[in-house]
Amino acid sequence: MKLIVCENYEEMSEKAAEIIKEQVVKKPDSVLGFATGSTPVGTYDKLAEMYKKGELDMSGVTSFNLDEYYPISNDSDQSYHCFMERQLFGRVNITKDKINMLSGEAEDPSEECERYEERIEEAGGIDLQILGIGRNGHIGFNEPDTDLEAKTHLTELSSDTIEANSRFFENVDLVPTHALTMGISTIFKSKKIILLANGRSKLNAVRELFSEHITTKSPATMLKLHSDVTIICDYEAYSEASIGIDIGGMSVKIGVVENLKIIDKRIIDVTSGMTEKDLIAAITSVCAEMRKRYKANRIGIGVPGIIDENGVTSANLPFKDCKLDEIMSRALGVTVKIENDANCAALGEQAAGAGKGMRNVLMVTLGTGIGGGIIIDGKIYSGKGNAGEIGHMRIMPDGKLCKCGKHGCWERYASVSALIEMMERAAAEHPDSILADAAKDSINGKTLFKAMDMGCDTAKHVFDEYIGYLAAGIDILVSVLDPELILIAGGISRENEKIIKPLSERIGGAVPIKVAELKSDAGIIGAALL
Ligand code: GLP
Repeated sequence: MKLIVCENYEEMSEKAAEIIKEQVVKKPDSVLGFATGSTPVGTYDKLAEMYKKGELDMSGVTSFNLDEYYPISNDSDQSYHCFMERQLFGRVNITKDKINMLSGEAEDPSEECERYEERIEEAGGIDLQILGIGRNGHIGFNEPDTDLEAKTHLTELSSDTIEANSRFFENVDLVPTHALTMGISTIFKSKKIILLANGRSKLNAVRELFSEHITTKSPATMLKLHSDVTIICDYEAYSEASIGIDIGGMSVKIGVVENLKIIDKRIIDVTSGMTEKDLIAAITSVCAEMRKRYKANRIGIGVPGIIDENGVTSANLPFKDCKLDEIMSRALGVTVKIENDANCAALGEQAAGAGKGMRNVLMVTLGTGIGGGIIIDGKIYSGKGNAGEIGHMRIMPDGKLCKCGKHGCWERYASVSALIEMMERAAAEHPDSILADAAKDSINGKTLFKAMDMGCDTAKHVFDEYIGYLAAGIDILVSVLDPELILIAGGISRENEKIIKPLSERIGGAVPIKVAELKSDAGIIGAALL
């Protein structure tokens, strides 16, 4: 099978119309097999345009349509007779008496089917058959589990097809339960076949086409045995890969994510001289390459800082009111979504990491400040745009001054920087302590745990105070959000049980608390899921 993956529906329709035109130019008396459904409508529009411009002459063409509902009045609006008249036959110069369609009004359906088979043979067989595909893998109206050797026949429609096609009827009860359709063997006899598929709802059916097996459960898989089949589809129908970008102050991590797994990853260093333009150009160029290679058509970006109607503004990056999503979207020709990086990390953990299976998760990232991500019912909760700034919850009225300008913010007490401040103060107050000794050369989160392991009371004291502050904020968040799970992320979370156990005890075991699992991959996966 030949595969053509197109950017979008428009391009898919153009490619299909070109192939049909080529066929008709090469053999003006071609026998063409037409399909109905929404998929080929764009192709028929292109053929009509070509005819209007004098580029296509279909006067010599004989046509056979794949199928028709049964019973249905041929002039009813939902009949495929009317559909074809509207979408194609009324807009090009196919001679009326060379148009063949199964009749939904036939008294004897088996006779009608036999007659149809004979007519196809008399016409010399179909030169080029155009197919759509049902989301359950049906072609024509050959439903899963039907006879793959059948010729044109009367068939019962599956409930999935009835439901899918109900959009053309006033209500689902009006969709005919049966249809007349060319059988798989009829379709198979066509000399050349093009199958069109677009949109996410066709992803599974197209996947089956490229799997190794041939199964009656997905009748289109039979086409693998045909010698001249071209599948023309858009990205949506072909690939689930999406690109997740995690922008940080030091580097930008770009990953291709499929089925919640990173299948390829690139890292761009953010250097000090980089301008906004340089950074966007570097990210866009990697994305363009990955998009091409993996047929990825969704891009999500996690970025630190404020995102509002003016764009992104990040303290540690050259972004000032930067409409990053719009710029990248224009350059790459796909929709680009943007979110706060901590929110993306929370989404990644909830979907693919420690929060798997949970719908309501709160992630708390402890670092220089405190970042947060709130996932409610499987989605990021961003309020008016910037919810989740939990580090700036005021836990202490008139408390320490925060760099945001407020006093008493949680991150002034429970971030890793706050912990280090507390350790420094304690070391100064207790110069003979193990902690003071351990802190002599350098001081970081680990110093405290090292001193505690050596039995230092001062360190233990600092730790208890710190856990008290950490629990105070978490307590408030639990009361407001009642999450199923709290995840702790950031370097200090490496201490795992040493933090999780006392923290859980402090909040009275109200909610399970775990350490996040995906580390730096969480942001990429979460961004890709946007
Ligand atoms: C109908 C037609 C098929 C068509 C399918 C998909 O059931 N009998 O020939 O391929 O629908 O329709 P759509 O293109 O609207 O998704």
